[in-house]
Amino acid sequence: MADQVELLLDLARQARGRAYAPYSNFFVGSAVSTDAGTFSGANVENASYGLSICAERVAASQAVASGARHIDTVVVTSSAPTPTPPCGACRQFLYEFNPQMTVVSESRNGDRKRWVLSELLLDGFGRGDLGD
Ligand code: THU
Repeated sequence: MADQVELLLDLARQARGRAYAPYSNFFVGSAVSTDAGTFSGANVENASYGLSICAERVAASQAVASGARHIDTVVVTSSAPTPTPPCGACRQFLYEFNPQMTVVSESRNGDRKRWVLSELLLDGFGRGDLGD
């Protein structure tokens, strides 16, 4: 588990170097370990600001579009001085692929925080809530 997190953080740091964030200048990288391997992503912004997408959702989408259906761990690394938690939209997006996933965030200084996703999104909305 510890080695896996180190590997994911390495992938996330590399992805952060490819972030497209000319508007916020806030560079974020993410990586996920899944039932189909590891994947990474970076935030991608747009001149139409609201269309910008977070690194976590890019990484998760890469994974799912490659066949993954279960995410064990997501890591995030940003240019902030403190570890940044995933935004609300990302929490919901990730919840779909395992409410119990481990979430690790690392700041630019190497400080880390760790959560279980269901702590960050209490009583999240899932497929079971859609009924029959
Ligand atoms: N962002 C992420 O990629 N992940 C987060 O966890 C928080 C925010 C991005 C979105 C936007 O491109 C920039 O950071 C500033 O909000």
